[in-house]
Amino acid sequence: MKHLIVYSHPNPKSFNHAIMEALEGQLRALGQDVKVRDLYAIGFDPILKPSDFEFIHKGGAAPDVKAEQEHIAWADVITLIHPVWWTGLPAIFKGYIDRVFSLGFAYMIDEAGITGLLKGKKVLIINTTGSPEDMYNKSGMFNSILQTSDDGIYRFCGLEVLKHIFFTSIPYITDTARAEMLNEVKAIAKTICQ
Ligand SMILES: Cc1cc2nc3c(=O)[nH]c(=O)nc-3n(C[C@H](O)[C@H](O)[C@H](O)COP(=O)(O)O)c2cc1C
Repeated sequence: MKHLIVYSHPNPKSFNHAIMEALEGQLRALGQDVKVRDLYAIGFDPILKPSDFEFIHKGGAAPDVKAEQEHIAWADVITLIHPVWWTGLPAIFKGYIDRVFSLGFAYMIDEAGITGLLKGKKVLIINTTGSPEDMYNKSGMFNSILQTSDDGIYRFCGLEVLKHIFFTSIPYITDTARAEMLNEVKAIAKTICQ
């Protein structure tokens, strides 16, 4: 299967980076076709501009957006890896969605209503939080994030959400606990190859 990993974190020594490496390594070990788009490393420009709307109007996309859309079009399974920042997507990741998941590529709106154009593809979301699991469960914050991202973005575009994983309390837990989470990532890799 063809796996696209879209990842954002400014620090290559972060836990998010370790998650990305664990997933990529395991998928490759399983003989999968893998591409990684590291949004900071490629210097992705997250600012949606007037020119992007002009491209959309003409039925196209800016060259940098087009390149990312080709990666999405190529993939069977897309895994999104990023921390939760201010209860949602980090700005660079949100800007990637703003520009790459564009009208005419990821969804269409016409007389028939809204159509998700990424139907047939699957998405796995792996997020980390600083907040403890208990706190976000009790406050309903996990549900809010699931609604705004899984429903509001991914299912809206026709993607099948395989799983949305939250690894919590990351800055405050032991190395052993983090190592167990990476083992979980490797186990999940096996499940997304079917
Ligand atoms: C700008 C910023 C905003 C953050 N907002 C949240 C938040 O809303 N909820 C939360 O639980 N953690 C928040 N955090 C903490 C990070 O999610 C947490 O440190 C990260 O997931 C740990 O993974 P890392 O070591 O790979 O960065 C924030 C961190 C930063 C830098």
